[in-house]
Amino acid sequence: MFGYRGLTISDDGILEISGVRCDYLVEKYGTPLYVFNEEEILNRIKEIKENHIVKYGGVAAYASKAFLTKYMCRLIKREGLWLDVVSGGELYTAKSVDFPMENIIFHGNNKTYEELEMAVDFGVGRVVIDNFDEIDILEDILLKKKRSIDVQIRITPGIDGHTHDFIKTGQVDSKFGFPMHDESALHAVKRILNSPALKLKGIHAHIGSQLHQNNIYKLEVEVLAKFISSIKNLFDYEIEEINCGGGFGIYYTEGDKRLSISYFTDVIHKAVEECFSRYNLRKPTVFIEPGRWIVGEAGITLYRVGSIKDIRGIRKYVSVDGGMTDNIRTALYSAKYTAVPANKLNNKDEEQVTICGKCCESGDILIKDIKLPKLERGDIIAVLSTGAYNFSMASNYNRIPRPAVVMVNRGQDVLIVKRETYEDIIKNDL
Ligand SMILES: Cc1ncc(COP(=O)(O)O)c(C=O)c1O
Repeated sequence: MFGYRGLTISDDGILEISGVRCDYLVEKYGTPLYVFNEEEILNRIKEIKENHIVKYGGVAAYASKAFLTKYMCRLIKREGLWLDVVSGGELYTAKSVDFPMENIIFHGNNKTYEELEMAVDFGVGRVVIDNFDEIDILEDILLKKKRSIDVQIRITPGIDGHTHDFIKTGQVDSKFGFPMHDESALHAVKRILNSPALKLKGIHAHIGSQLHQNNIYKLEVEVLAKFISSIKNLFDYEIEEINCGGGFGIYYTEGDKRLSISYFTDVIHKAVEECFSRYNLRKPTVFIEPGRWIVGEAGITLYRVGSIKDIRGIRKYVSVDGGMTDNIRTALYSAKYTAVPANKLNNKDEEQVTICGKCCESGDILIKDIKLPKLERGDIIAVLSTGAYNFSMASNYNRIPRPAVVMVNRGQDVLIVKRETYEDIIKNDL
C-alpha cells in the first residue's frame, strides 16, 4: 500500500500491518498505540548484513536512540549487530538482556562520571570520545581500576548535511565532537596516544539525520582519510577503524525517496577504497550506525478520532487521543508525516483536514493540511513511518500516560511495552 512495505488493505477496507488488522489491534490494546512490523525490521537488518557486513566486512551498530526496548535489544542481539548507546539508561537496557558488552559503542557529548564508570565496569567495546573533559574523566576511572578501554574519537567534519538544523551535527558549530578547523582534534589524538589506559582504535563522524544524498558520505570519508593520514605522518600511528555514523534517510511523505542501504554503503566503501589507497593507508574496518533506517518505516501509530472542529472557510481540525506526547517531531522540527484512515480505506470522498493532538499547546499538530476521507468521532487514524524517534522521545506532558507498544510479525502480535497507567504517572511523586 502506497509503497509502504508490509502494509496492506483487507477486502473490507481495514489497514493491515504484517498481516494483522488494525481494528483488531486497537480493540485488543487500545489507542494511541505504537505498532512495529518485526518482519520489516528483520528485512532491513538482512539488507544491512548483505550490503555492508558480508559484502565489505563492515560493522553495523544499531543506533538505539531511534527506538529501544528490551524486546528490540534482544532482537538486535539475536541478529548479531552492535548497539550504539548514548546514556546510562540505554546501556542499562542492554545489560538487562545480557547484550554482549563488547559490541556496544558508547556515545554522548556529556557522559557523566557515573555513566563512564558504568561503561568501564560493564566492559563496553568502544567509548566514542567527544571532548577533552571526557579523556580526563575516563582515564581517571581506568587508572583507578587498573583497566584499559578501546576508544574512537568523534570529529565534526565541517560538512553540511542539508537536513533540518536540529538534526545536523557535522557542521563546525556543533556541540558534538572535536572541531577540525583548528588543532583540537590532533591534540586529542596526541593526548590519547600518550594515555596508558585509552587505546585509540578509530575516528568517528556523524553528519546528521534523515540524509538523502549519498555523496555527503563520500565527503565524510575524504575528511576521515585525510585526518588519519595526518595522524600517521605526525605520530607514526595507523588508525584501524572509521565510523561514518548513521543518518540514512527514509520515506515519510511524497518527495522523500525510498533508499536502499546499498545506495549509501556502496558509496562509502568505494570512497574508502579510493581515499585510503590515495593516502597510502591500510583499509580500515568501516562502522555505520543506522537507527531511523532500521525502524522508521517499520512503525505506525494508531489513534482514535475525538473532537472535530470546522472553522468554516479557514481550517478543519481533527483531534486524536495522542499528539506531541507520543510524537514530538512535528512540533520540534516541523517533521512531515502521512496518515491514512485505518478503518475505512475504501472510502474515497476526501476533504482537507489538520490532525492535532490533545495537549494544551497550539503547536500540538501531528499533520497540517492533509487530504483524508471524511472522518468521524471513533474512526482510527494511522500515522505512518513513526518507528524512529517517536516512542523514544515520548513524554508525559499534561500527565498523559505513554502508549503501549506492540510488535507484529506475519499475522502474530505481541505486546512489548505495557501502556502506562495513571498510577505510573504518580509513582515517583512524594
Ligand atoms: C552518533 C550518531 N550515530 C547514529 C545516529 C543515528 O542516526 P539515524 O537514526 O538518523 O540513522 C545518530 C543520531 O542522532 C548519532 O548522533
